[in-house]
Amino acid sequence: MTSRIEIVQGDITALTVDAIVNAANASLLGGGGVDGAIHRAAGPGLLAECRMIDGCPTGEARITGGYRLKAKHVIHTVGPVWRGGQTGEAELLASCYRNSLLLAREAGLHSIAFPGISTGVYGYPMEQAASIAFAEVRRWEEAEDQPKQILMVAFSAEAAALYRRVLAELG
Ligand code: AR6
Repeated sequence: MTSRIEIVQGDITALTVDAIVNAANASLLGGGGVDGAIHRAAGPGLLAECRMIDGCPTGEARITGGYRLKAKHVIHTVGPVWRGGQTGEAELLASCYRNSLLLAREAGLHSIAFPGISTGVYGYPMEQAASIAFAEVRRWEEAEDQPKQILMVAFSAEAAALYRRVLAELG
């Protein structure tokens, strides 16, 4: 069976998919990094909808509309802050991917794009985060039919190279 997991390099806000995932914070009221980029591209409607949600705990996910984005929806998930790896970070990061995919499936979405959750401001080491991310989406792909297309977005060429290596190692 051919894999439904694809690596793409670039700006996640430009993608035409059913949902892009936002690496948000627990307030869901915006921030820097990919969160800031998504809110800027989506426009004020996104923040207005986020204000109606009572935040989101680490490891969970919430879905909203995509507003001015090409993506129909944004799935907001809150990654763990890296504190050295002994405070449940790995399981929480895996939960972000799993819960986002669960929401996508429940909403009947066919395509989803993930940024490297927690690998920016939250300081998760890129390689460890990538291993968890790819293992989790692979597990999902083996068990579930939807979404049909799972894009793993690397912002830089370095991140894309690392992603290709991690995916290849997974077999
Ligand atoms: N497209 C794709 N990937 C991106 C983009 C983009 N436009 N911009 C950044 N990245 P970060 P976190 C990559 O810091 O670590 C926010 O303030 C970036 O290179 O956005 O989960 C939130 O409000 C990195 O690999 O998210 C939270 O407070 C990855 O996206 C906090 O940051 C994630 O980096 C969340 O921190």
